Amino acid sequence: SRKSGIAARLLDWYDAHHRELPWRVAPPKLARGERPDPYRVWLSEIMLQQTTVEAVKSYFTAFVARWPTVGALAAASNDDIMKAWAGLGYYSRARNLKACADLVAAQGGTFPDTEEGLRALPGIGPYTAAAIASIAFDRPAAVVDGNVERVISRLYRIETPLPQAKAEIRALVGQLLPPNRPGDFAQATMDLGATICTPRRPKCMLCPLREDCDALSAGDPELYPVKLAK
Ligand code: ADE
Ligand code: SF4
Repeated sequence: SRKSGIAARLLDWYDAHHRELPWRVAPPKLARGERPDPYRVWLSEIMLQQTTVEAVKSYFTAFVARWPTVGALAAASNDDIMKAWAGLGYYSRARNLKACADLVAAQGGTFPDTEEGLRALPGIGPYTAAAIASIAFDRPAAVVDGNVERVISRLYRIETPLPQAKAEIRALVGQLLPPNRPGDFAQATMDLGATICTPRRPKCMLCPLREDCDALSAGDPELYPVKLAK
């Protein structure tokens, strides 16, 4: 079907062209049975909430070198964590980071493996819960950020403006999710939006979904996503 074809083409593209990022367990390792460490997935997702991938890289690497486990982070002082966070901004994230580490460490250092369980933790909202559940635990969660909204609204040429279109986009992502690799599917959609399906001048000729894309067929990808006039 069109749907399973889209997921399959996107995953093949991801296997060949994924971004190498310090918090990722890239497809060759996953194929050997290595699993992502939920602590690293959580830490990266908190850092990425309001900060770019490029800015997060060096902070993430420094944090995991200094505090390799959630137990180590829980044992650190608030002051040391705040100092190490300096420069990343949105400092409530660092306070919640410590509160969350304390709770998880007190439960034996194991993160909850469902969206619902994750959402109950400090600093973890619906988006971050979906991202961690999907990437760390391969739960079939719909992970929808700005990149994913752009890709999906172009693929289906969605005329409903954002933010109303969010429910429709979430439902379409849910239908596209491949049951075997939801975490890679989430990261593949993010990577496609960041590197190929860019806001201006998308590189449609390099896109694994060019045969599936309604906006490309119509010749107007840059018109999507439609945004509510201010
Ligand atoms: N933004 C949020 N989560 C991300 C991830 N896992 N990889 C790349 N960009 C992201
Ligand atoms: Fe985006 Fe172009 Fe790919 Fe469509 S064909 S999903 S507009 S990059």
